[in-house]
Amino acid sequence: LVRYDFEVEKMHEKLISNLAVLYQKLRNFHWNYTGTSFVSVHKFLEAEYEALSEDIDELAEFIRAKDEKPLSTLKEFLDNTELKEEYSNDVLPLVIKDYEKIISDLDSFETEDKIEEDVLLGIQKRMSKSLWMLKSMKV
Ligand SMILES: [Fe+2]
Repeated sequence: LVRYDFEVEKMHEKLISNLAVLYQKLRNFHWNYTGTSFVSVHKFLEAEYEALSEDIDELAEFIRAKDEKPLSTLKEFLDNTELKEEYSNDVLPLVIKDYEKIISDLDSFETEDKIEEDVLLGIQKRMSKSLWMLKSMKV
């Protein structure tokens, strides 16, 4: 049985909006960060937004496969995100805060849909590993 109730739809809308805003934040940080660790931070952030782009695609196409419509425009993402569009050259704490928020949201979501669980767990697993790396970086 395919379950796509209101609560699930809201969770997907919030998640895809948070991921899409985070994607652009990572690009902003990748472009504008300056410091002695420029090369490593710049490259790490690029790898992160590329991986996040794949995550967003997985989630959107999972929703399409359920014959639903994912939020798809920048306006929809901004209207539904819980993340702030912010910039500080002290980029790591900002990235860590957003990763922790999204990982914790994913943690509290339960589903009996095995494919959905796999999609969400895949995102959570990847982001958790990146969070460990972010916390291990000293800049
Ligand atoms: Fe680049």
